Amino acid sequence: MSESDLDGVTRSYLIMKAEAKVALDLAEEWWDSKTIPNYIHVRKLVHDDLESFVDLYNRCFLASPDPFCPINLEQAKKLDTEGIFVAELWGKLSGFIACFVEKEEDSVYGEITGIGVLPSRRRKGIATALIKRASKYFLDAGVEEVYCEVYEENTPSQMLIMAYGFEQVGTREVDVQITPEQDTSADLPGGKIMRRLGLRPRPGCEKCRDI
Ligand SMILES: CC(C)(COP(=O)(O)OP(=O)(O)OC[C@H]1O[C@@H](n2cnc3c(N)ncnc32)[C@H](O)[C@@H]1OP(=O)(O)O)[C@@H](O)C(=O)NCCC(=O)NCCS
Repeated sequence: MSESDLDGVTRSYLIMKAEAKVALDLAEEWWDSKTIPNYIHVRKLVHDDLESFVDLYNRCFLASPDPFCPINLEQAKKLDTEGIFVAELWGKLSGFIACFVEKEEDSVYGEITGIGVLPSRRRKGIATALIKRASKYFLDAGVEEVYCEVYEENTPSQMLIMAYGFEQVGTREVDVQITPEQDTSADLPGGKIMRRLGLRPRPGCEKCRDI
């Protein structure tokens, strides 16, 4: 698709919501019949992981239908690592999940702002192990409702989170062709990690992979 074909094109993120307890029960159920093998280890992201995290993040999203802009180490250093968990497989980072607890005046809710598993490690339950950990994190923080946004063309991601009780409660439309006037975080494509870092899938980011 050429740049001119994208003029005025909008895409949607589906806004999905689940009860943290339901997601935890369903993720535990998935793993019930199987033991999480001891070579899968889910833990908090620490500062020393950042270089490997950048590689993991970029490799996960290169193999994803989501609008995407690669991150680099300098940008990753600006991330708040609180609520980010990684899955190690045989000691190597193979997946991550980013959780944020949003506190508004009269409500507290959770948000999964990113999840990814290395292409060669998919369909082995790694994302499920990460959702299980995230659900516990949210429940420990007193969060009952968890939201996430899924790009409309990202079927694997939709299948994953629907398996854990997420249902669509809205949509967020984005213009695929961004003009400088639209350059506000609310209207931009890209997951929240990208948006928090101010990364723009287009234009102005030559390295961005096309949608
Ligand atoms: C979406 C993603 C995280 C799933 O990770 P995963 O480790 O393969 O997921 P799991 O193995 O835990 O899958 C659990 C269940 O989710 C569903 N599911 C996951 N991937 C699926 C797919 N490609 N097609 C259909 N169902 C899928 C299935 O019900 C699966 O259970 P099953 O294998 O017993 O059928 C992974 O495909 C990915 O990293 N994609 C690229 C990054 C991305 O798009 N992230 C989401 C946007 S933030």
